[in-house]
Amino acid sequence: MPSHLAARALLSDPLTNKGTAFSEAERDALGLHGLLPPHVGTLDSQIARRRRALDGMADNFQRYAFLRDLQDSNEVLFHALVQSDLPHMLPLVYTPTVGDACERFSEIWRRSRGLFLSYPNRHRMAEILSDPAYDRVKVIVVSDGERVLGLGDQGAGGMGIPIGKLALYTACAGFHPAEVLPILLDVGTDNVARREDPLYIGWREARVRGAQYDAFLEMFVAAVEQRLPGVLLQWEDFAGKNAYDLLGRYRHRLLSFNDDIQGTAATAVGTLIGGVHRTGLPLARHTFVLFGAGAAGSGIAEMLVSVLMSEGLDEAAARQRIWAVDRDGLIVSDMPDLAPQQIPLARPRSDVAHWPLEAGVTRIGLYETIANARPTVLIGASGQFAAFDEHCIREMARHCEHPVIFPLSNPISRAEANPADVLAWTEGRAIVGSGSPFGIPGVTQVNNVYIFPGVGLGALAAGAREVTDGMFLAAARCLGRLGGSNGSLLPEIANLRLVAREIAVAVALQAMDDDVATITSADKINAAIDSAMWEPRYSVEMAGAARSA
Ligand code: NAI
Repeated sequence: MPSHLAARALLSDPLTNKGTAFSEAERDALGLHGLLPPHVGTLDSQIARRRRALDGMADNFQRYAFLRDLQDSNEVLFHALVQSDLPHMLPLVYTPTVGDACERFSEIWRRSRGLFLSYPNRHRMAEILSDPAYDRVKVIVVSDGERVLGLGDQGAGGMGIPIGKLALYTACAGFHPAEVLPILLDVGTDNVARREDPLYIGWREARVRGAQYDAFLEMFVAAVEQRLPGVLLQWEDFAGKNAYDLLGRYRHRLLSFNDDIQGTAATAVGTLIGGVHRTGLPLARHTFVLFGAGAAGSGIAEMLVSVLMSEGLDEAAARQRIWAVDRDGLIVSDMPDLAPQQIPLARPRSDVAHWPLEAGVTRIGLYETIANARPTVLIGASGQFAAFDEHCIREMARHCEHPVIFPLSNPISRAEANPADVLAWTEGRAIVGSGSPFGIPGVTQVNNVYIFPGVGLGALAAGAREVTDGMFLAAARCLGRLGGSNGSLLPEIANLRLVAREIAVAVALQAMDDDVATITSADKINAAIDSAMWEPRYSVEMAGAARSA
C-alpha cells in the first residue's frame, strides 16, 4: 500500500489508531506528520479531553452515540475511558442507555462493527467469517434482536446488545477488542414500525420462523464451529422459546450459554446468597415469588431449586417454596399452553384450592399470590412497568420484616417498580435490588454484568468443552461469597474486574470438577486468566515495527 494510504489506514483503523498519542518517532516512521496536529498527547490527556466533551452533552443517548463513535475510531482510548470510571460509564455503554440505542440504532448507524449475518446472505456465512480480521476471536455474543431487554423485537437494532455486552467483556474480563465479535442474525423483524421506518438498516421482511429459522441457525453454528473452534458463544436476547431451544440444541456441541437464562439466574441467586443474612433467615426458610416466568424467571427458579437442595431440602420441598406468576396469573398445572420450562414450576390446583378468592375469580394474580403464599422474596423478570404496585408491596411487607424485592426488568421503562417507591411503601424495611441503575443509596444493581464476563473468562481459561450448570452455580456462590459493601448486596461496580477474575477462577475449577476442562492444573488456569486480561494501553511497538519492515 502506498505509504500515505498506509498512514491514513493506521488512523482510521480503531485497533491501530492512537490519535494525538502517536509519538514523534512513530510520526517519523509511519508518515503521520501533518495528518495529526503538532501536539503529542498521552492516553491520560486524551481521556480528560473526551471526558470533558462527554460531560458537556445534554443527555445519555448523545453520550452513548459519542462513545460508540469513539469505540469505532480508537478502541484503546474508548476502553481506557470506560475503565477510568466504570460506575459512571457502564450505564452509558450498557443498560439502561443501550435500550434507547437499540430502538434508535438505525438513526445512529455510522460505521461497521461486528457482523450482520442476514437471511438473504445465508449461503455466504463461511465466506464472511473467513476474513483474517477474525483470526483472534475468542468470544462471540450473538442475538437475533427479537427480545431486546424488555423492549421486544428491535430487528437489526438489537445489534446494540452484542456490542454493549462485548464492551463489558473487555472492561471487566480484559478481552482484547480483537478477541470479541458481536453478531446480529438478521432474520427480519415483526416490528412493523421498524420495518416501515425509511432509515431502518435491517432486512425489511417479517421474521423467518420454523424450519427455515432452525436451518439458518444450524448454518450459523456450523460456520462458527468450522472457522473458530473453541470460541465461547453467548446467546443473547432471543425470544423465550428460541432461547430455550437453541441452548438445549447447542450447549453440548459448542462452548456456549444463554445469558438471559443462566447468567440472570446466577446473578440473582448469587445476590441472594450474599445478602440473605440481612433478612435474619437462612435461604432455605424463604418463600419466593417469581413474577414473569420466561427465560430469566424460569432460570432463576431452577437455580434456586438447586441451591435449596444443597441446603438440605429435597426437590419437592424446594419446589414448594417457589411460586411462579406469569401473564395468566399464578402458574397452576391445569393451565393450558404452559411453556416447557414452566411445567416444573406449576403448582397443583390443590395447593391453592383453599385460598380465599372472590367468587368467580379463577385467575390468581400477583396480589392474591402474595396475600396467600406470603413470600419473603419477590423477583420481577416480566418486563411489566410498575407491576409491583403499592397494594402488592404493602401486602408483602405486612408478613415479613425485611422483604427482599428485586424488580429486575430492564430498561427503567420496564422495571416492575421504582426502588424509591418500594422503600417508601415498606418504611425502608425492604432489601431492594433493581436490574437497571436508579442511583438510590442502598439499592443494589442486580445485573448480569457481575457474572457473564467471569464465566466466559473462566470457561476459556479451563479450555472447557461446554459450560455446565455447575459452572454457573459456582459463579453464583462466588458472587455470594464476595458479598457487598456500602449498603449494596454486591461488590462495587468499580471492582468489576476483580469480580470477573474471582468468578473466572471458580468457574474454571468447577469445569475441572465437572470433567469438561481440557486444562486440568489450577496453576495453569490462574496463569491463563492473568495473561488473558488485557489493559487498554497503547502499544509502544509501532515505530520500531515500521522501521524494521
Ligand atoms: P421473556 O420474554 O423470556 O420473559 C418474560 C416473561 O414475562 C414471559 O414469560 C411473559 O409471559 C411474562 N409476562 C408478560 N406479561 C406479564 C404480566 N403482565 N404478568 C406476568 N408475567 C408477564 O424475557 P426474559 O429474558 O425472561 O426477560 C424478562 C425481563 O427481565 C426483561 O425486561 C429483561 O430486561 C429482564 N432481565 C434482566 C436482567 C438483569 O440482569 N437484571 C437479565 C435478564 C433479563
